[in-house]
Amino acid sequence: MIKGTSNIIAFTNAFHGLTMGSLSITGNDFYRDESFISRNNVAFMPYDGYFGDTINTVDYLRKFLEDSSSGLDDPAAVIVETVQGEGGVNVSSINWLRQLSELCHEFDILLIADDIQVGNGRTGPFFSFEHAGITPDIVTLSKSIGGGLPLSLVLMKPELDIWKPGEHTGTFRGNNLAFVAATQLFNNYWKTDELTREINKKSSIVRRRLETIRDRYPQLEADVRGRGLIYGLDVPHRGFCENLAKAAFDRNVIVELSGAENNVLKFLPSLIIEEELLREGLDIIEECVEDVLDDEVLIHQTRTSGDVVL
Ligand SMILES: Cc1ncc(COP(=O)(O)O)c(C=O)c1O
Repeated sequence: MIKGTSNIIAFTNAFHGLTMGSLSITGNDFYRDESFISRNNVAFMPYDGYFGDTINTVDYLRKFLEDSSSGLDDPAAVIVETVQGEGGVNVSSINWLRQLSELCHEFDILLIADDIQVGNGRTGPFFSFEHAGITPDIVTLSKSIGGGLPLSLVLMKPELDIWKPGEHTGTFRGNNLAFVAATQLFNNYWKTDELTREINKKSSIVRRRLETIRDRYPQLEADVRGRGLIYGLDVPHRGFCENLAKAAFDRNVIVELSGAENNVLKFLPSLIIEEELLREGLDIIEECVEDVLDDEVLIHQTRTSGDVVL
């Protein structure tokens, strides 16, 4: 199972964390600027939809793998977020994930799903790739997995676990209290599919509301993307999302920014939020959209041709 190579394929707009190894497989330019680090052994390939609908980016990757002179060294693994959180809430399709998984299988490449942001039910089921029916070789989990206590997990197929007991040690490894909390979390929330059903119900509330905002304010030229309880409202007008996030914060609603130009408002409500509170938060977001629109001349943001004032 050892691949004899340390090359990794990561995707455009990927975000995998702030340790040195994680930064090297992160595409997001804000984080890549943080430090001058070694970025050896990583090749970036286009994520699903990177070229719009015209190019299937799994076929694109296949071309590189098939051509022994493409310049792409044989990869040990491909690492993917099924929904890119920091990268702008980019949602990969079921077909794309299946094709990627098949491609990895065909070329004997490990598939790593980074489920740190979108695992633990964030997209509905416990793992974000379940809906595609694929089984990655390695899965990373963190964030709410410890029920609020610090815990990260790397799951791997048994045949990949070549470490001997205690071989990969560290002072802060294995936080016992967090293990207990995580066990309680599994027992309380994941014995049935009730949480998934609740998340899916709330997902429709968020989607409908954001689509209403998109349709009611066409000048935003907004796009709504997401799954489960991670949604993005992509507004291609410089500064709009920052101003909206500030306005929302002043009204006690925290909404994150993501995307290459901070052009995506990222909504990540608590998975157990009450419906009433969720609706109240969305009302506040819409009020903020109106207020920010009243205050601004929208500057259309294009990456290639400069600014267009609308
Ligand atoms: C997809 C993804 N991977 C990795 C990380 C980093 O996780 P950690 O802070 O546990 O290193 C994050 C954090 O937001 C993330 O969203």
